[in-house]
Amino acid sequence: MPERIQTERSNESSNLKAKRSSFLLGSVSVAAAAVLAFWSGWPGADAGSVNVANAASGGDIRVATSVCDAHALRAQQEEDPELEIEIPAEFDKQWPSASACQSAIAAWDPEAPGPIQPIPFSHKHHAGEFKIDCLYCHAGTDESQAAGVPSVEVCMGCHSQFPAEYDEIEGIRILKDHWEQKKPIEWVQIHRLPEYVQFRHNRHIKAGVQCQTCHGPVEELDKLHLVPDSHIGYLVPVAKLEMGWCINCHRQNNQQASQDCLTCHY
Ligand code: HEC
Ligand code: HEC
Ligand code: HEC
Ligand code: HEC
Ligand code: HEC
Repeated sequence: MPERIQTERSNESSNLKAKRSSFLLGSVSVAAAAVLAFWSGWPGADAGSVNVANAASGGDIRVATSVCDAHALRAQQEEDPELEIEIPAEFDKQWPSASACQSAIAAWDPEAPGPIQPIPFSHKHHAGEFKIDCLYCHAGTDESQAAGVPSVEVCMGCHSQFPAEYDEIEGIRILKDHWEQKKPIEWVQIHRLPEYVQFRHNRHIKAGVQCQTCHGPVEELDKLHLVPDSHIGYLVPVAKLEMGWCINCHRQNNQQASQDCLTCHY
């Protein structure tokens, strides 16, 4: 079983590079428009603002302590017009966008299923809202056995072009630290088969099996986890990555794939 690999970028075609940069131009302008369109409320109501007594009304004024906090306070005020807020000029900015702040919080939500990753990276934001293609980051999936996670270089291809204000998001600072120190990000692997099982992505992708069939609605998740299987095999519930899960699908569509032991075990 191959170790988790960092997708090799050095030999990529100039075509793909061109595709990447044109994507980015598009994405940055989309960013501005997308921010409010995708607004869906803050995961945590209290985003770190400080309370200051208001001498005039006798109540408290919530004072923003960051750009993200300012976005959160504005959203709260929209729901509760009574709320008194103050946004210092230094935090009254467009970037980082409200939805980037929000996704970063959701991707590190300890209550949500799945491991806490070294960076709060949201698939919902990248693959869902910004529609970045799965294969743009998991380039190995259709060619090699392992899908692989994107290198720091792939991330920085976009993020080095973002306004410096994005450094307010801790995940962006962690990303840039890794870039400066030429250190790979140690993502926690979620799907992991035992060594004695043989699995190839490319055979499945070529056979037209969608990523989501096996991984769930990735583009709707801020924080990834092992999504439970929706199929019932042999009339008993089967958990994802168990042998019955593989075989159950191989039996479908009139025995679409081999169930010979040696197909999956050497
Ligand atoms: C193709 C461009 C692109 C690539 C590649 C990319 N990002 Fe992003 N990233 C974005 C955009 C666009 C946003 C949202 C900006 C906004 O809403 O203002 C974003 C937002 C983020 C955020 C804020 C929280 C979130 O997830 O929305 C983090 C953290 C982040 N990216 C980390 C990464 C990491 C780590 C990688 C590499 C694994 C990466 N990005 C690769 C374009 C990209
Ligand atoms: C901008 C880059 C980017 C895009 C686009 C992207 N991913 Fe990812 N993917 C990552 C990163 C980084 C990780 C590791 C962190 C994590 O698990 O959230 C990851 C992890 C995963 C994992 C879990 C791997 C494991 O550890 O088992 C799956 C499954 C996955 N991605 C599927 C998809 C699918 C399906 C799509 C398209 C709908 C997609 N990804 C789009 C960057 C990306
Ligand atoms: C037939 C089911 C199936 C399909 C379809 C599938 N995967 Fe996977 N994926 C798996 C299994 C099983 C593993 C665990 C592999 C292992 O442990 O060797 C995995 C692992 C991964 C990983 C983490 C492993 C690594 O290489 O680091 C990523 C990322 C991933 N898949 C992304 C994708 C993407 C993107 C697609 C669509 C282009 C996709 N997968 C399609 C079953 C599938
Ligand atoms: C959602 C359906 C689906 C699931 C789940 C699935 N497979 Fe497959 N698998 C297929 C299809 C379809 C093919 C046939 C591909 C082809 O025709 O080349 C295939 C082919 C294969 C092959 C190559 C067969 C050969 O004859 O060389 C192997 C090995 C394999 N799968 C292993 C696994 C393992 C291991 C798992 C579970 C971790 C798994 N598959 C889960 C649909 C699935
Ligand atoms: C389509 C792929 C596939 C086929 C075909 C397959 N297996 Fe498996 N097998 C797996 C996977 C995946 C696991 C790991 C399951 C897990 O970790 O829960 C596994 C696990 C096992 C284990 C260890 C079970 C345990 O509980 O630890 C044995 C023994 C085994 N298989 C035997 C067989 C035999 C015998 C056959 C032929 C009749 C066979 N397998 C056919 C995918 C397959």
